Amino acid sequence: MTDATSSNPAAEAEENRRDFLLIATSTVGVVGTGLAMWPLVDSMNPAADVLALSSTEVDLSPIEVGQSITVVWRGKPVFVRHRGAEEIKEAEADDTAALPDPETDEARVQKPEWLIMVGVCTHLGCIPLGQKTGEPKGEYGGWFCPCHGSHYDTSGRIRKGPAPKNMEVPGYTFLDDTNIRIG
Ligand code: FES
Repeated sequence: MTDATSSNPAAEAEENRRDFLLIATSTVGVVGTGLAMWPLVDSMNPAADVLALSSTEVDLSPIEVGQSITVVWRGKPVFVRHRGAEEIKEAEADDTAALPDPETDEARVQKPEWLIMVGVCTHLGCIPLGQKTGEPKGEYGGWFCPCHGSHYDTSGRIRKGPAPKNMEVPGYTFLDDTNIRIG
């Protein structure tokens, strides 16, 4: 910043705004390519007092079968997926497959139709693709992390690639049939 702008509050504010826009734009660009590391995205999240909230409540009723939403809990993305019968069947059928991080589908869900997990790749922390229609879901129909090629199945279990663990299932409670509290 030049001396001219630092002595002019209006110019300084404009410059700061431009800096912020540049940062925001480049961050969105990185997220758009699926190569965002979580700590980078984390810097764009709400203030510390909001992040400190230990629980997040989610109304599941607007999420149709086959849809996913992402909510923020303790500063992390949490994937909430309304699974269809076919996805559930695939997940359960693969309980006996050679899983890098063995876990049954039943152990990862409270209700088979709702898969809820922290949407952070367990390799180096990218956010896997597969939440939105048209995004690649990987070779096992779940999520794909393009950073280094990790494939997750319809239960969020790691099936192929360098990620060592399944995507984490956070603690959550069904408050009633259509509302959950995460954390
Ligand atoms: S961070 Fe996901 S594969 Fe490396």
